[in-house]
Amino acid sequence: MTTATAEALSDAARTFVSSGPHRLLIGAEWLGAADGRTFETIDPSTGEPICEVAHAGADDVDRAVKAAAAALEGKWGAMPPAGRARLMQRLADLVEDNADELAQIESLDNGKPVKMAVRVDVPQAAEHIRYYAGWPTKIEGETIPVSWPRMFAYTRKEPVGVCAQIIPWNFPLLMSAWKIAPALAAGCTVLLKPAEQTPLTAIRLGQLVQEAGFPEGVVNVLTGDGETGAAMVDHPGVAKIAFTGSTAVGREIGAKAGRGLKRVTLELGGKSPNIILPDADLDAAVKGSFQGIYFNTGQACNAGSRLFVHRDQFDTVVSGLAEAAGKAKVGPGLDPGTQFGPVVSEEQLGRVTSYIESGKSDGAELVAGGAPAADGGGYFVSPTLFTGVRDDMAIAREEIFGPVLVAMPYDDLEEVARRANDTEYGLAAGIWTRDVGNAHRLAAMLKAGSVYVNVWGPTDPAAPFGGYKASGIGREMGHANLDAYLEVKTVWTNLA
Ligand code: NAI
Ligand code: MG
Repeated sequence: MTTATAEALSDAARTFVSSGPHRLLIGAEWLGAADGRTFETIDPSTGEPICEVAHAGADDVDRAVKAAAAALEGKWGAMPPAGRARLMQRLADLVEDNADELAQIESLDNGKPVKMAVRVDVPQAAEHIRYYAGWPTKIEGETIPVSWPRMFAYTRKEPVGVCAQIIPWNFPLLMSAWKIAPALAAGCTVLLKPAEQTPLTAIRLGQLVQEAGFPEGVVNVLTGDGETGAAMVDHPGVAKIAFTGSTAVGREIGAKAGRGLKRVTLELGGKSPNIILPDADLDAAVKGSFQGIYFNTGQACNAGSRLFVHRDQFDTVVSGLAEAAGKAKVGPGLDPGTQFGPVVSEEQLGRVTSYIESGKSDGAELVAGGAPAADGGGYFVSPTLFTGVRDDMAIAREEIFGPVLVAMPYDDLEEVARRANDTEYGLAAGIWTRDVGNAHRLAAMLKAGSVYVNVWGPTDPAAPFGGYKASGIGREMGHANLDAYLEVKTVWTNLA
């Protein structure tokens, strides 16, 4: 950590970060990896190492699965629903009590503006846990009106068991909350694996889980990379896998889950279309589309990365976006003036830069950004905008996961719906219009798990979120995600 970085942190955040090498939460204990391996987590704003973290291997996964299974058989499994609810409320309180520290650690590890972590990541994580804390006391079976004389049938909803939860680096704390909250509400136990780029807030959350008083083994936190994740997926004691990340890894996990007949939910990539109709409020559409792609430096699975603008408004919209892109303040996450932080890693910087190069060599026109935005060793890319893009170019088809937008003109509604749907993905889609008829006609035509009308990307713990096609399987949030952690048991009783 550089001196300037250390000085930007509060005492609490500095103490946490410098208390490394950080360990694995397995059962009641914080342990080093069985084979002693560690890795460094890097500050993407400077490229400097922050601290060492334990690298969990297959032996650690096995110990964590045993701890999680024992918790199901022990105190946690026996706890009444109101007890689970109370612990989850306590955890949400603790996330709020430690909000500033969590936001700083997140900003340091991920690079996102600390202001944003304070306003979005941390409060939404707490809200998510709170929403699901309401569920344990409301998980009801049904009495089934079977057509047998003197036969009584009812259903029970039971936790699926030990869950392997693997998350990415773009919203580390928030994704941790998205994963553990429904599982805990359902009465499951979990192995949570944060991404190797951003392990720190999941570790801090593990400490808060203990402070809240959860029985040992309910939440285990395993830091590590894809190898750790694969060991979790492969473990026979895991009943359900929840994964958020790349479509390539999601396919592999889905295939393994199929072979093992494990329950699985996958929240994967996207190349989401954002459509501005001719009658839209153009100021609102430009502002919303700008945030829709560049929010979190374009590192959002539901980023609005393909912009379709009616030919009559195309130049106006493009110049509005280019102007805003030129003014964007890109800088270190912990700098209070930063609007957009760096991308998360050197690898990600390379990936985004090579897409920008491919756009140029395919003949697209760069109208904003494209170059490193700041110096100082960090992984900065300024908001980038391409026009002159054909639907078949790599920058128009593949998920870039960086601050790169392609803008394309269209002429009519049917045409734009067809082009918007011509993608392997189907996570989100946006429509900007004042015409309520066209809004809902198009909303029905778009093959995407979420459609946003005159807004981009709101989420709520109660509202289902997930993908069509290669964007995933199952839904996060709401009742749908609770059900993903429950088995239905039908009990028959002969009353004769
Ligand atoms: P990734 O899919 O490799 O990593 C996501 C998580 O999966 C991490 O925790 C990682 O350690 C784990 N993992 C990796 N390989 C695994 C395996 N074989 N089995 C089990 N777990 C495994 O994503 P990566 O490499 O960090 O980013 C690559 C691209 O993926 C990005 O450029 C972006 O396009 C996409 N991505 C999409 C995300 C989303 O929210 N949908 C989030 C992160 C990345
Ligand atoms: Mg990091």
